[in-house]
Amino acid sequence: MNGTGTRIIAMGHYQPARVLTNEELSQTVDTSDEWIRSRVGVVTRRIADSETVADMAAAAAGKALAASGLEPADIDLVAVASCTSVDRCPNVATRVAAKLGIASPAAYDLNTACSGFSYSLATADHAIRAGSATNAIVIGAEKFSDFTDWTDRTTCVIFGDGAGAAVVSAVGPDEPPGIGPVVWGSAPDRGEVIKIEGWRPYLWQDGQAVFRWATTSIATHALQACKQAGVAPGDIAAFVSHQANTRIIDGIARRLKMPQAVIVKDIVESGNTSAASIPLALSKLVERREVAAGAPVLLFGFGGGLTYAGQVVRCP
Ligand code: UT7
Repeated sequence: MNGTGTRIIAMGHYQPARVLTNEELSQTVDTSDEWIRSRVGVVTRRIADSETVADMAAAAAGKALAASGLEPADIDLVAVASCTSVDRCPNVATRVAAKLGIASPAAYDLNTACSGFSYSLATADHAIRAGSATNAIVIGAEKFSDFTDWTDRTTCVIFGDGAGAAVVSAVGPDEPPGIGPVVWGSAPDRGEVIKIEGWRPYLWQDGQAVFRWATTSIATHALQACKQAGVAPGDIAAFVSHQANTRIIDGIARRLKMPQAVIVKDIVESGNTSAASIPLALSKLVERREVAAGAPVLLFGFGGGLTYAGQVVRCP
């Protein structure tokens, strides 16, 4: 091991320009602004035009890199969490590296659907602490509009497109770690309740089964992430959960008892962007400077697989 820990030194995000409102959706499927707001919490979502997952990932990563003060030559690991890249090869990470002029990084994609950012952040943290990398860019990027059945009201009102990115570096020898131990796992026996399968796939989910799983089991894992980081829930400054549903976010937050925490609900303006939802929401939180640099923020992702992962990080 060459270091005691790592931290997020900068964030960046990208969203496509096109805003799709609930009113517009209610003109194409049998739904209403009232139903979507009260049952899911989404008011608007962004929809990509010709941008690919790699385009959005590179745009977010470019902003994070610029904010970090590092140069492309300083980056030796690029990790991309996504489940909506249409192209199988080359992977998204190498395309991002090519677009940003990062010459020869370790470059991999990771697919654990909506928990992907926290999984990827953990792998970057582990790689740096093991001495296998020095500075990493970790990205969550999704283009769900490519995998949405726009005639299915049960799914088309939920999802959106976008990307968020973090630059991760080793902390100094006397600094505390800025990325806490990951708590990660899955419930593969229930994995069939969310699917994007086949050759021209659309997302399908048993929404109620996922809802039940998320609201009954995720809080326990999130508490474990706080415990492993040595941070009491009462000291958490912000909770940045996967942005699946405001009712799920509130349900988990209630069980965690975090009176001081900003409960982040970027889903209201961005929809559910799967692996992009946590870095997108965290980047905006940092941009608004709603939470002091160094304050503990609980990240927790959950979704397809059924997979989950989360950790406490120090706010960049
Ligand atoms: O990020 C990936 C992980 N996924 C999740 O975390 C999703 C978790 N699940 C959920 O967020 C919720 O279950 C949904 C938002 C997907 C659905 O909300 P719900 O409160 O569980 O609704 P429901 O499925 O029980 O449907 C209630 C009613 C049904 O009508 P009937 O059978 O009661 O007549 C649906 O057909 O609402 C109907 N419905 C709609 N009505 C208007 C379903 N979609 C819509 C819609 N507009 N868009």
